[in-house]
Amino acid sequence: MNKRPIGVFDSGLGGLTAVRELEAILPGEKIVYFGDTGRVPYGTRGRDVIRRYTEDDCAFLERFDVKMIIAACGTVSSVAGDIIHSRAVPAVDVVEPTAREAVAATRNKKIGIIGTAATVKSGSYAKVIEALLPEAEVFGQECPMLVPLVENGWIGEDDRIAALAVERYLEPLKEQGIDTLILGCTHFPLLVPHIAAYLGKDVALISAGAAAAKAAAGILAKDEKLSDGEGGTQFFVSDKGQNFKAVAKTFLGRECEDVNVVDINSL
Ligand code: DGL
Repeated sequence: MNKRPIGVFDSGLGGLTAVRELEAILPGEKIVYFGDTGRVPYGTRGRDVIRRYTEDDCAFLERFDVKMIIAACGTVSSVAGDIIHSRAVPAVDVVEPTAREAVAATRNKKIGIIGTAATVKSGSYAKVIEALLPEAEVFGQECPMLVPLVENGWIGEDDRIAALAVERYLEPLKEQGIDTLILGCTHFPLLVPHIAAYLGKDVALISAGAAAAKAAAGILAKDEKLSDGEGGTQFFVSDKGQNFKAVAKTFLGRECEDVNVVDINSL
């Protein structure tokens, strides 16, 4: 039993999809969430900047004496996984658990990956999949425009722009006949209605945030570090910006209360 909090971070609010899953499966856990909303997006930035930001994000969470760090960001997990896994506490990234779920789900061994430019260029998911299932065919597709669509709330089922953007990005993957798609960016679960409508119900959709949350629960259980105390999540962001409340609620599935703004550049 360990009542210290779990630290979760993302470049923005997409990581709240992991918090949503954690709150559902581990209601006795305290969670500290940091969303680097003042510096989002990470996915279009260079490797050195993404790695520097990752250092800052981990250092911020470590101030809370967390028992685990979850990088609920496909970009960070792909470009700075070594930084997360070199901390003093156990860490979980989204790549490994999500790739494992995809390998378990595929029947025809054709797996698609959508993510930010940095994620897809890194080949991170493909490396893990190929190690687990060498005969797999992996098809990556960068989808940079999907992140701002989600951040702006253009995700409704009747949103024609979201439908067109999804169709344009996913067309090459559909043509390859994938039966499993990794949503390799924690923003993308919010586009599931559009993605499922375009790909059809026979394509399994694997969500990175949820997979990471389940993996974290498994590690804490194995290490006997779960808590059955009073759970709750504290939220920190580096900017509240415009439209914050509505976007955060869409990711989290509930109101996001008592959000603290921190100046991540001067900590
Ligand atoms: N959260 C990021 C990810 O999962 C997407 C947004 C960004 O580009 O920072 O890759």
